[in-house]
Amino acid sequence: MIRSVVQGCGAYLPERIVTNDELAKKMETSDEWIQQRTGIKQRHIAADGEFTSHLALKAAERALAHAGLDGADLDLIVLATATPDETFPATATVVQKALGMHKGAAFDLQAVCAGFVYGVSVADSMIKNGLAGTAMVIGAETFSRILDWNDRGTCVLFGDGAGAIVLKGEQGAGTSADRGILANALHSDGRQHDILYVDGGPSSTRTTGFLRMEGKEVFKHAVVNMAAVVGEVLGKAGLEAKDIDWLVPHQANKRIIDSTGRKLGLAPEKVVVTVDKHANTSAASIPLALDTAVKDGRIKKGDLTLLEGIGGGLAWGASLIRW
Ligand code: UT7
Repeated sequence: MIRSVVQGCGAYLPERIVTNDELAKKMETSDEWIQQRTGIKQRHIAADGEFTSHLALKAAERALAHAGLDGADLDLIVLATATPDETFPATATVVQKALGMHKGAAFDLQAVCAGFVYGVSVADSMIKNGLAGTAMVIGAETFSRILDWNDRGTCVLFGDGAGAIVLKGEQGAGTSADRGILANALHSDGRQHDILYVDGGPSSTRTTGFLRMEGKEVFKHAVVNMAAVVGEVLGKAGLEAKDIDWLVPHQANKRIIDSTGRKLGLAPEKVVVTVDKHANTSAASIPLALDTAVKDGRIKKGDLTLLEGIGGGLAWGASLIRW
């Protein structure tokens, strides 16, 4: 049986850090409000001329170095992003060229904040079906470019960044004790479009548009759907919450993260939290958090790691990985 096994991970954050206090100088907000409601203390913002592909490339290079591979070893890049460099071609092809990967396929995937778990699921399916052998899954965003900086209800919540993992198809026994991706679960509900969307696009307005969100509504759906999907993915793998070593959730709001951790009965130290430092980086948030916990020594080979995320669409999902 073929398993998609993680070979390495990497991440990159733009140099410029913007604190809550810095935002409070420009708009009616405060460090206290932002921290109390979300847990966010700061975010990284891309420099002028620094694009999603630049962040993605740096994360991808670091993931390859961590895996001991180079671009020529890859035959698939799935880049999850809602903020591509251009309307087309796929930003993944820009990264493909820069990595010196001249075979296989590279494409973008759009599932906003759930993009990374969607990307992991798609790459895993392609590996299992023989369409790819070694795959890079990247989540990369420059959300600062689609924020309405006059809307304090949204602009304080997001940041820019990128993270990536390398997966390789390996033959194995296929039990839940073996390394690799054990199970995935994906969902979307297009009826919830109006609570989180961007009010522009090439076909509708010919503009890029700005992010619009009814935060309270999204919050309610997030709490309910995250609890359900983590239960679903554990059930698919025949495992229970007590088996989880690490929960690596989408980093939108500390209160949503805490709620999922509590419902799973997990000790807080088993939940990886980076929302304080990175804010919500959409598709990049899970691989950024993963990379943080792998590189600081928390997540080790063989640990049962649960990823979950939800965002515009609404779209949500979870992946269970024996790291
Ligand atoms: O990644 C995609 C998924 N997204 C999410 O998961 C986001 C989910 N939602 C949330 O995280 C929260 O709903 C928010 C953090 C967005 C908002 O928290 P909330 O507790 O739901 O606050 P609220 O939107 O109901 O706003 C409460 C008050 C309002 O004032 P009034 O009407 O009570 O007088 C807002 O005008 O806070 C005000 N407010 C602010 N005050 C200071 C809104 N934004 C700000 C701000 N600074 N930046």
